[in-house]
Amino acid sequence: VPALEQEAEDATISQGVVESNWAGFSGRGFVNYDNVIGSSVEYVINAESGGEHDLTFRYANGTTTDRPVSVTVDGAAAQTVSFPGTGAWTTWQTRTLKVVLHAGANRIKATATTANGGPNADKLTAVLVGPPDNEAP
Ligand code: GCU
Repeated sequence: VPALEQEAEDATISQGVVESNWAGFSGRGFVNYDNVIGSSVEYVINAESGGEHDLTFRYANGTTTDRPVSVTVDGAAAQTVSFPGTGAWTTWQTRTLKVVLHAGANRIKATATTANGGPNADKLTAVLVGPPDNEAP
C-alpha cells in the first residue's frame, strides 16, 4: 500500500501563511500557523481502503514550549497531538497518531489549542496499518 500524503502548503489554511525561510522542508515550503488559538491546517487524504491508519505529521518547533493541536477526521474524533520543541526551526521531526479513515477523501484538520498556535507544519502522511475495511459507510 503506497503512503498517502499532502504537503501543508497545499492544504486548506486558516490563520496561517506559507513560508520557506527555514531549510529542510519538503515540497515548496511549510505552514507557519498564526500564534493564536484556532489557527488550522486541513489536509485531505484520499485513502485507497478504509481502516486504521498511522497519520504522521512532519513539523518543526524552534521554541521550548509544546504547540499541541487538536486533530479531527471529517469533523469528528478529536485527539490532541503534542508538538514539543525540536531544538531549531530547521530541525524537522514527526509525530504519529492512529485514526480510522474511510475509503475516499478524508478531511484531517489540525487546529492549534494554545495562544502560541501550531508548530511549523511540513506535511501529513497516512499509512494503512490495520486490515482494510471497504464496507460502505
Ligand atoms: C519565528 C519563526 C517562524 C515561526 C514563529 C513562531 O517567527 O521564524 O517560522 O513560525 O517564530 O513562533 O510561530
